[in-house]
Amino acid sequence: MKTFDVYKLWPIEPIRAKGTRVWDIDNNEYLDFYGGHAVISVGHCHPVYNKMISTQLEMLSFYSNSVLNSLQTELSERLGRVSDYPDYSLFLSNSGAEANENAIKLASFYTGKSRVLSFKGAFHGRTSGAVAMTDNPSIVSPFNSFHHVTFATMNDIEGVKAELSKGDYAAVIIEGIQGVAGIYTPDTMFMKALRSLTTEMGVVLIVDEVQSGYARTGKFFAHQHSGIKADIVTTAKGMGNGFPIGGTLISPIFKAVPGMLGSTFGGSHLACAAAIAVLKIIEDEGLMERARVNGYFLKQELNKIRMKYSGVISDIRGEGLMVGIEMVGEFTKTRDMLLFNERVFTGGAKSNIIRLLPPLTVTEIDITDFTQRFEKCIINILESN
Ligand SMILES: Cc1ncc(COP(=O)(O)O)c(C=O)c1O
Repeated sequence: MKTFDVYKLWPIEPIRAKGTRVWDIDNNEYLDFYGGHAVISVGHCHPVYNKMISTQLEMLSFYSNSVLNSLQTELSERLGRVSDYPDYSLFLSNSGAEANENAIKLASFYTGKSRVLSFKGAFHGRTSGAVAMTDNPSIVSPFNSFHHVTFATMNDIEGVKAELSKGDYAAVIIEGIQGVAGIYTPDTMFMKALRSLTTEMGVVLIVDEVQSGYARTGKFFAHQHSGIKADIVTTAKGMGNGFPIGGTLISPIFKAVPGMLGSTFGGSHLACAAAIAVLKIIEDEGLMERARVNGYFLKQELNKIRMKYSGVISDIRGEGLMVGIEMVGEFTKTRDMLLFNERVFTGGAKSNIIRLLPPLTVTEIDITDFTQRFEKCIINILESN
């Protein structure tokens, strides 16, 4: 058997990593400004994280969700406190898509309705409902296309109002910051208006914080910059620092009924140990504040480069350590040059946006290292003309 080839692969094989650095099979060192799709939150192979997982592994890695598991209680309490959602409940699953499926299911059970309002450019995952709420027809199969989903324009509150007025909506789902689309933050006024409107119309507001959450933007969840509270928040990626785990944070308005949600693997002992370790490190090392301060420094340094070279960068956006750099014309080559010439991992969006999602442990030295390598690529392109 061979693998089912659905991924576009770089010809690089990482075999070990530490903090913000990754080494390939030939012992080449890479600077990681992507964290494997925003997953590495507390840095690669953090000693506290490794220790807590290995200690748990020696005791019990898994049983089932039909017995008591105090690690789930500990994780829920800690996450509630750190995220400032202490009165919400936590349902544990294994991925971002699953966290979103469960969110939609709850909204639909609660309202008795099936239509969802999503947004143009949205990405919510690849399972049935999640992919239907994703604005990319090329990954929606005919089987997934029967869900009732409408796509609105972000920041157009009148358009949202017109849709919700039709009266058949269970939920509105929005990313805290659109990631896969290329780092687009909804306006604060729009988020506030969306909160008021959904409350007024009895529609559940779900904020997908799978990519933008977990202290990455300087708040625990990106939507908290707008000062609003969602009815349901979904999370995954940085939650386990590489150990698969997803979480659905659920408002007290929803009553749990035995059997309404479920998962074999969700909330396993090992997954909880990983997630507790992540929260402990975020708190102990002040990573939320560090993401805010270092994110500001990163954008400042990038803006200096933008000002220095005209016609190279058309926009720099995002919050904290979730940053998008929009490149112009031939400078779209910069991302490939960063990887192959400078050995820096970054992410992409469309063909011209570089997405930066480094571990939250990144330092000013790492950032300066990154911006120097980034500038070197730009100089190389300019000199080759
Ligand atoms: C905002 C958002 N939601 C959901 C997902 C899906 O997460 P997963 O791949 O863990 O299912 C992603 C993945 O990129 C994402 O960025």
